[in-house]
Amino acid sequence: MAPVPLPAVSAGAAVRASTGIGELDRVLGGGLVQGSVILLGGDPGIGKSTLTLQACSTVARRGGTVLYVAGEESPEQVRLRADRLGVREATILVLPETSVEGIVEQLTTLRPALAVVDSIQTVHTQSLGSAPGSVGQVRECAALLTSAAKATGTACVLIGHVTKEGAIAGPRVLEHLVDTVLYFEGDGAHALRVLRAVKNRFGSTNEVGVFAMGEHGLAEVENPSAAFLAERPIGVPGSAVLATVEGTRPVLVEIQALVSRSGLALPRRTSIGLDAGRVALLAAVLEKRCRMPLGDQDVFLNVAGGLRVDEPAADLAVVAVLASSLENRVVPADMVLWGEVGLTGEVRSVGGSEARAREAARQGFVRCLLPATSARGLHRPAGIELCEIASLDDLFRVLEHG
Ligand code: TYD
Ligand code: MG
Repeated sequence: MAPVPLPAVSAGAAVRASTGIGELDRVLGGGLVQGSVILLGGDPGIGKSTLTLQACSTVARRGGTVLYVAGEESPEQVRLRADRLGVREATILVLPETSVEGIVEQLTTLRPALAVVDSIQTVHTQSLGSAPGSVGQVRECAALLTSAAKATGTACVLIGHVTKEGAIAGPRVLEHLVDTVLYFEGDGAHALRVLRAVKNRFGSTNEVGVFAMGEHGLAEVENPSAAFLAERPIGVPGSAVLATVEGTRPVLVEIQALVSRSGLALPRRTSIGLDAGRVALLAAVLEKRCRMPLGDQDVFLNVAGGLRVDEPAADLAVVAVLASSLENRVVPADMVLWGEVGLTGEVRSVGGSEARAREAARQGFVRCLLPATSARGLHRPAGIELCEIASLDDLFRVLEHG
């Protein structure tokens, strides 16, 4: 093959089709791209099959043929789920097949608009002797399906279970092979589910979609802040509201802490939905800079509703709930916090402050506690009071006055 001058290379704009599910389209970067391969990972039972079957339905309704490869469940089980969801399009073809060669053959003959392989861990190729689900099999099958997807222009969704044993043969080993990696997260005990893009060749990453699992499948959540704050207790210590930015969207979530005297030589540090290393760092800053005796206390932290928050902007809310629980003092219920905390106890600026403040106003909050450096030049939304702080000392002064 001869090299081509860069400007002569065709840009080949991606051809997209809406899935008909707005929250899914948002995470995909605007819809399904022809010939692209999407890996959908998540814990067993979180709703991967449900989400994809609902997408199959809307794609079929818009006139596309859909191939649903049932490797894990029998076609009867797929039918039962479809009945529950009210999915009955005749252009959804169910293929009970675990041989990748058989799947590729069908892709080539049918050239469907969308194909779902549920799950990649059940598929195997004759060319390898190892068992289905092993790293080699999962990789080789995904590679064969990827070339078939490119050749036929089919958008292909590979479902992958995140295995409890550290995801050895799980979706992680495929991330570099596919175009888009989505993770479906949530805490099985709650109805709320978050769909997150961690890789996307055709859109931005870190975009999230929010769904609620109900009796008849997944429903899009239009107002995620309200959903995440729905069960927030008012007037109790150890609870504060954080304005986080998920992709381009500000979302309010409740951070909870329980600090209680430990009987253990090495007190417990447990955080759900927050980075444990970051929490340990913040606890150390509180201990050293603010003389808070956390050393002999068990610390539990939780992001209510099952969301995962990974940005440093969560620091201020984390620090506030830790102190609130330790000192048995309430963080004002009308207050929203965000900002990064540095090792010397200084409060550092974060991006997106205007969007966060606007979301706080929209949800009926009155006060925003934020880094002074982020407040500079910020257009204050009507009805919002800005409490600008530069250090943790400032934070505790504000919280003391309620
Ligand atoms: P499923 O999509 O099978 O999960 P995955 O493919 O990720 O393993 O969904 C599993 C759970 O969702 C199951 O516990 C039942 C529940 N569910 C509902 O609550 N409502 C529904 O309409 C459906 C189809 C499932
Ligand atoms: Mg499933």
